[in-house]
Amino acid sequence: MNQKITDSVVYIGVDDKTIDLFESQYVVPNGVSYNSYLIEDEKIAVMDSVDARKTAEWIENLETALQGKAPDYLVVLHMEPDHAGSVQVLAEKYPEMKLVGNAKTFMMMQQFFTMDLTDRIVTVKEGDTLSLGSRTLTFVFAPMVHWPEVMVAYDSKDKILFSADGFGKFGALDTDEDWICESRRYYFNIVGKYGMQVQALLKKTAAFDIQKICPLHGPVLTENLGYYLDKYSTWSSYTPEDDGVLIAYASIHGHTAKAAKKMAEILKAKGAKKVVLIDLARDDMSKAIEDAFRYDKLLLAGASYNAEVFPCMESFLLHLKGKNYQNRTVGMIENGTWAPSAAKCMKEIVGKMKNIRLCDTVVTIRSAMKETDLPEMEALADEILGK
Ligand SMILES: Cc1cc2nc3c(=O)[nH]c(=O)nc-3n(C[C@H](O)[C@H](O)[C@H](O)COP(=O)(O)O)c2cc1C
Ligand SMILES: [Fe+2]
Ligand SMILES: [Fe+2]
Repeated sequence: MNQKITDSVVYIGVDDKTIDLFESQYVVPNGVSYNSYLIEDEKIAVMDSVDARKTAEWIENLETALQGKAPDYLVVLHMEPDHAGSVQVLAEKYPEMKLVGNAKTFMMMQQFFTMDLTDRIVTVKEGDTLSLGSRTLTFVFAPMVHWPEVMVAYDSKDKILFSADGFGKFGALDTDEDWICESRRYYFNIVGKYGMQVQALLKKTAAFDIQKICPLHGPVLTENLGYYLDKYSTWSSYTPEDDGVLIAYASIHGHTAKAAKKMAEILKAKGAKKVVLIDLARDDMSKAIEDAFRYDKLLLAGASYNAEVFPCMESFLLHLKGKNYQNRTVGMIENGTWAPSAAKCMKEIVGKMKNIRLCDTVVTIRSAMKETDLPEMEALADEILGK
């Protein structure tokens, strides 16, 4: 549903509550929004399109907002199909409309679509401006946040930062939930690898007086912007956000799970501020990744499996490594019945991560946890808590 952001900027995006997995990977229990905005000035600009799943609904929103007028520009900040999926349809509907992007945007546009771009494009470079009349849009490039062509745009009149996927959140717009959890899960899973690039973007946009942030997913941010910028600064610098332990376990028949749960009790008894348990075989992987980045300590409990580690643990660690997981304390419990191999396998992956304090104590459980395992588990708890 259309909503006014300012007198001349209207939200014309759409909610998608039927998609099974966002990017074929992430569960979105409350759906996701594909945001798009209309700026009405002397010139009319559409800010990004939407996923092809929702083209018709978006065009309807756009027509309602336009009231018979035609847009002068479609600004394309990001070419990923969840935003650029309806570009060609709009370009064909309004043959006079110009497409605004950078050289990489148009390279991708020609790869995704068949339309003829001759005489239709306005190519911008870093720092270029586009006048819409009473305002200009300034384009700031955000390479690899999280695609190479990404840029953000600053509206000088309404002091809006159109932030592309930055500051995005899972969840349709009518979802009643806090911003933080679903934004963190979104950030680390989708942008997590590119902390340095996000830092560079934050530095560049610090020059602007930003009153509102209009992202491509999730709510428009209008108040207390320091809070969101602070979170992005923490996340992109790989600084742990909260003091706590994520215990991530991979258990086949339940014995490793039991040891993980016992470990949670021990850690709590020793004063751990927060302990979170995740069953890697059953719980959502993207949530596990979110929590691994959220807390400063990670305890891995893995069953040995065919001379390696149970695959959901390996998959979790490879995901973390791929997202540049770093700057944390990691402890390990392994389980094995005849030749425990889990710890070696986990260490191989964790050893390739940057700035990890790996606990010396590695607990090896033989099939099922016994009283005799407790002293070592206590020692591991002390070590991970830095006692
Ligand atoms: C298919 C399969 C492969 C296994 N491979 C190994 C192995 O290579 N080395 C080992 O010591 N234990 C191996 N185990 C035993 C498990 O690591 C584990 O000790 C046992 O299943 C108890 O823990 P759990 O209840 O958490 O699964 C294997 C178990 C299964 C079911
Ligand atoms: Fe994207
Ligand atoms: Fe997106």
